[in-house]
Amino acid sequence: MIGYSKYLQEAVTAARIAGQYQKSRFASTLEIEMKGEKDLVTEVDRESERLIVEHLLSRFPGHDIIAEEGDYLQAGSPCRWIIDPVDGTTNYAHGYPWFCSSIALEVEGELVAGVIYNPIYDELFTASKGDGAYLNGNRLSVSNRVPLSNSLLGTGFPYDCATDPANNFASFIAFQKSARGIRRAGAAALDLAYVAAGRLDGFWELKLKAWDVAAGVLLVREAGGVVTTFDGSAYDVFNDRIVASNGLIHDSMVTLLAAVAAGVAI
Ligand code: IPD
Ligand code: CA
Ligand code: CA
Repeated sequence: MIGYSKYLQEAVTAARIAGQYQKSRFASTLEIEMKGEKDLVTEVDRESERLIVEHLLSRFPGHDIIAEEGDYLQAGSPCRWIIDPVDGTTNYAHGYPWFCSSIALEVEGELVAGVIYNPIYDELFTASKGDGAYLNGNRLSVSNRVPLSNSLLGTGFPYDCATDPANNFASFIAFQKSARGIRRAGAAALDLAYVAAGRLDGFWELKLKAWDVAAGVLLVREAGGVVTTFDGSAYDVFNDRIVASNGLIHDSMVTLLAAVAAGVAI
């Protein structure tokens, strides 16, 4: 690790602190609030965020923070942490053991460090810019599986899918027909980590937020994969359409998404 290791190290510590807490409260009775008709937030989301932010600011007091559950003063620091304290909240609230925390650091708008931690499996995914992606310290690389018809993909659906036609349903059907299979596991950050690990060959989703994807995007890129918008153009974490893949099936995924957008039957 060159350059960004001190940041990565502290992000790992923060993710482990949050993960230990999440595990200790898992499947217990939780206070749950509704942010929208389907969108939950639990006391564990809020406390996990508090623990992560407290740790990072104790080490890097001047840094900016963007996180899902709170508003933080933006001091204009070149260093900005992007945090999802619990990705997979619906799973967590239902006692379904599939969730993680996701922590990324941007320096001058560029992703330089990312951590995704699944405390149930004790799987720690890490990446820093120029130094590759790792799972529990072992180097990761994306799969070399081709073509799309042999591929396993991940995706998800936005919380407002019942009311907004931009709901991913048509693409889901088209990919289900064209690929080997699709998993909708409920934690976008882990989907991206799984693309980096070669366990999924591709992933697409819409209306995700920066905290859902920031660490995962760096992981995929550092594992040799490709991340773009739906039309294949350059992606940044504030774009709300994402396609991530092993690179080899990327054009096929983008072509299929274009066909769905044009209303062509697959
Ligand atoms: C959600 C998960 C899910 C995705 C949703 C996200 P949350 O994040 O990543 O997989 O489909 O769109 O909002 O609410 O569990 O942090
Ligand atoms: Ca999330
Ligand atoms: Ca969340």
